[in-house]
Order: sequence, then structure tokens, then C-alpha cells
Amino acid sequence: MDNRIDVLREEIKQKLSSVGDLAELDKLRVGYLGKKGSITALLKGMKDLTNEERKTFGAEVNKLKANAAELIDKKVEELNRRAIEAEIKLMPVFDVTTPPELTRGSYHPVTLSQRQCEAVFKSMGFTVEDYAEVVTDYECFEAVNIPKHHPARDMQDTYYLENGQLLKTQTSAAQNAILRKYGKNLVENGVPIKAIFPGRCFRNEATDACHENTFFQMEGMMVDKDISISNLIYFMKTMLSEVFRRDIKVRLRPGFFPFVEPGFELDINCEICGGEGCPSCKHSGWLELCPCGMIHPNVLREGGVDPEKYTGFAFGLGLTRLAMMKYGVKDIRDLNSGNLKALSQFTDDDN
Ligand code: DAH
Repeated sequence: MDNRIDVLREEIKQKLSSVGDLAELDKLRVGYLGKKGSITALLKGMKDLTNEERKTFGAEVNKLKANAAELIDKKVEELNRRAIEAEIKLMPVFDVTTPPELTRGSYHPVTLSQRQCEAVFKSMGFTVEDYAEVVTDYECFEAVNIPKHHPARDMQDTYYLENGQLLKTQTSAAQNAILRKYGKNLVENGVPIKAIFPGRCFRNEATDACHENTFFQMEGMMVDKDISISNLIYFMKTMLSEVFRRDIKVRLRPGFFPFVEPGFELDINCEICGGEGCPSCKHSGWLELCPCGMIHPNVLREGGVDPEKYTGFAFGLGLTRLAMMKYGVKDIRDLNSGNLKALSQFTDDDN
């Protein structure tokens, strides 16, 4: 019997064992199994054999062909695996059990203060609402009783966009939407509107230790039958004593805001200087923290709530200021500085 088959089988085995990469392997495959390959040549040469010889020889060659194809496939797998293993060896070692380095991220002091306030208000049955930063003139001003050309607009130097919208100057911009969202439930089911809505505000301010062009407020509203100033004072005091975890001196004095009547300024004793006077409190010993008041009938009416039947209070807590007081940050500009050394030192633990 022809020993060319055995010779080829041996040769293939040997050559495969020394192949180092896929390109070389492909050449080998073409050399044996391709159109002009040596196994194909064996099959082509069968035409000179007798019928009987062709049968057995053909079967043997086909076996060899199948065997060679299988060995080559296995080799492909092996080479691929080896390539991956080599790549893994080059990768830096990462031990998931090693304790992390002390460069973990941390919450921004304003975020911490916001969460503390949210927790207090949630525990008193308020919902926490999210609202847009780009709003319409109607939302930010007209709906809260500041008509076009009203002098109260001068208090808030506004960034207007080319499309007529604006960056909200106050979280009060969400009041109308909240009244509309929950008003029906109030009228039909007698469920009071109790919502807070924290958010970023923007004003074209000359910056100094206590003014920034970008700052956070947290607005709150409660509307029901027979809501009075006493309710307002109760909620403000509860919130502040919870957030500061100690008795905070506050004072209430009259203040003008078009969306409330009567309106108040709620000041807290400056925690930075203890009331002595410092740049953070403009040397007054007091810091305006939470303007508030009884919601103006026009605002309620504009939000679809009948001011003859319902009353409510609203407040606009200065969240950025609150964070400054709570964490003793002397300059508001540090909060927007991105200075990680300054900002990452506060944690939730110092509640
Ligand atoms: N929106 C006011 C501001 O940014 C703050 C404010 C005052 C909000 C009185 C209120 C309020 O809800 O009742 O200056």
C-alpha cells in the first residue's frame, strides 16, 4: 500500500508542533488542504488507480484530510489562547482585596446639607421635587406675581437665553408647577400640598465672600385650609434645629418678596463669628438664610388654587449659605472652586 499517506500524516503532526503564529499556520493549511495542497494532490492522483484501489485509497486520504483539518482547528484555538494569556501577563496586576487608597470621592458640602434638609422635611410629610434649570419668564417671574417691568425684577440680574428662556434665578420658579401638580388632590381629597424643591440658581452677581453667580436654594411650600404664620415658624425652627443639631438663634423681620404677603427675612446668628461680625455676614452678626412668608393670593390663583379657601406658606432656604454656616466655610467661592482638598473634608458623619 502507498505509504505517502503515513508520511504526510507524520509530516503534518511535526510541522504543526512547531508552528508559532496564525499566519504560519494558514500557510501550512493551504500547503496541505488548499487547491494545490499535497492532500488535494493525492486525491487528484487517484484517477490512475484501479477501481478497487481507488476505494480504499480514497477512504484513507479522506480520513487524513479530516484529521489534518481537525488538528489545524485545534492549533488555531491553542494559538488564540496563548495570545490572550500573553496579553494578560502584560496587564498590571490588580488585587481586588487590597484596601483602596484614601482618594475616594466625597459628597459636596451643599449636597450633604441638601440631603439633611430633605430627610427632615420628608420625615414631616413633604415630597421632594426636581425642577429644570432653564425655565420660562412666566415660571420664574410672572407666575409668582412679578409681572413684566415690575421693579422687583431688578433684584435678580438674570441670564436670559437667546430663545427667550432664562437660567432660573430662584427656586420659586417651580411654585406654579407644584401648585398645579398637587392642587387637584388638595381640592378633591383634602390632601395638603407639602413639597420642597431644591435646585441650582443663577444670577449675574459681582462675586465676593458671600455672593456667587451660581448657588443652591431649597424652596418649600405648604398649602391647606387654615395655614398660618405659626405653621411657617414651626417648620422653619424644626428644620434648622435638626440640621444644626443644636439650638440656633434666629430672628424674623419683615421682608418684601412679591410672591408672599406678609413676607419675612429669617436670619440666623452667624455661626462663623458667633455673632461678632465678620466678612461672611457683612459684619452684622446675622446671616439672611431663609426668606419666607404667606403665599400671595395671586400666586395661589395662578396655580389654580382658590385663595378664598386655602392659604399657605413658602420659603426659599439658601442651601449654599446653610452649608457655609454648618461647615464653617468662610468664602462661598470655595464651594464652586473644584478644590478637592477643601471640598472632600466633609462627611455625613459630622451631622
Ligand atoms: N425666591 C426668593 C429669592 O430668591 C426667596 C424667597 C423669598 C422664596 C420668600 C420664598 C419666599 O418662597 O416665600 O430671593
